[in-house]
Amino acid sequence: MTLRILIYGARQIVTVTHNNGEKMLCGKDMHNIGIMKSDTVGLSLMIENENIIAIGTDDDIARTFEGVEVNEKIDASGCCILPGFVDAHTHPIWAGDRVHEYAKKLAGATYMEIMREGGGIGFTVEQTRLATDKDLLVSLVARLKRMLCAGTTYVECKTGYGLEWPDELRLLKLLEQARSHIPIGISITYCGAHAIPKNKTAEEMTDDIVNNQIKALKKLMDNKELNVSDIDVFCEKGVYDTEQSRRILLAGKEIGLEANFHGDELNYTGSAEMGAEIGARAISHLECISDEGIHAMAKAKTIGVILPHTGYLLRIELPPVRKMIDAGVPIALGTDANPNAFSSAMSISMNLACVLCHMTLEEALAAATINSAAALGISDKYGSIEVGKKADLIICRCPSYDII
Ligand code: NIG
Ligand code: FE
Repeated sequence: MTLRILIYGARQIVTVTHNNGEKMLCGKDMHNIGIMKSDTVGLSLMIENENIIAIGTDDDIARTFEGVEVNEKIDASGCCILPGFVDAHTHPIWAGDRVHEYAKKLAGATYMEIMREGGGIGFTVEQTRLATDKDLLVSLVARLKRMLCAGTTYVECKTGYGLEWPDELRLLKLLEQARSHIPIGISITYCGAHAIPKNKTAEEMTDDIVNNQIKALKKLMDNKELNVSDIDVFCEKGVYDTEQSRRILLAGKEIGLEANFHGDELNYTGSAEMGAEIGARAISHLECISDEGIHAMAKAKTIGVILPHTGYLLRIELPPVRKMIDAGVPIALGTDANPNAFSSAMSISMNLACVLCHMTLEEALAAATINSAAALGISDKYGSIEVGKKADLIICRCPSYDII
């Protein structure tokens, strides 16, 4: 059965791309996004079975589809239509909270100091292990719902509050289950290397992940029990060093996962150089990236996923985003929703990206749509408004995107 939906009367359609098959935008193209607008006539979009099949003026679309059955018509008079936001980095499955750490942070404790005292990720791992499957699923779906209400239509979801394989596996399965509970796109990232469990060393964990966890994951993926896209590691001084991270990421790549990891966040570790060298699809954070790292990522077209909300909350210096864009690094955005820095709204990430990272409005929008989709390897179908793409859209009750 064919289901057709017509959206008509819009003042503006922000296509983001220019319909040249762009899979990501770099450099000046991030600012020069595609925008259709009209003060005199309305703009329409025709959707067939969830895909965009035509874009044009109301008159053009009416003429083209004369006599064709349309199941639903949505009046978007005076509105602006955008592609749904793609959140390129979240940790949405955990139990408990870390509110008690917030006052410590405000008083000057650093992220790593709290982590070394057994707080931070370690604390959330303990709380998550104690929670039932049902509680984890209910809180996960509630968080995803908040994201959807804030305009996110596709979200990257990491594990990482399990660490040991049985716990990581439980989180992977619950993320898989969430797909049938809420109509938001989910890209699953396996992040067993998020921290070092108590009584283990980074080297022991690296061996466990490479020799056991990844093999077990491959079996489940081969059996189609799990559909995992990416592999992540917290490449950081005092967590996984660059060589351990490289081993983990390469082992993941061997079973078909894409490398998409945390790097150069609190300290410079050469993550960007390493990631570019192994062909990582994306690297997140990058607050401490070097000039060499910037050039390596620009050359390899490795996407830099910027998480301004985290830097703001931790009061750390934000990444040199202007320098990165000028050098040609494709920049994407994420909320980094997690118990340390909770945020569901890409509009906040975009706002902070503009104010704190000096991105233009258009760059922030490109980063939150087509480039975030590219960071997840889905920009052939998501992240812009083009014929042939999925109709994941936001209709805003305002005439122009810049109001957002
Ligand atoms: O992206 N840096 C590592 N991971 C998360 C924080 C997770 C946590 O503190 O629970 C991040 O900021
Ligand atoms: Fe993160």
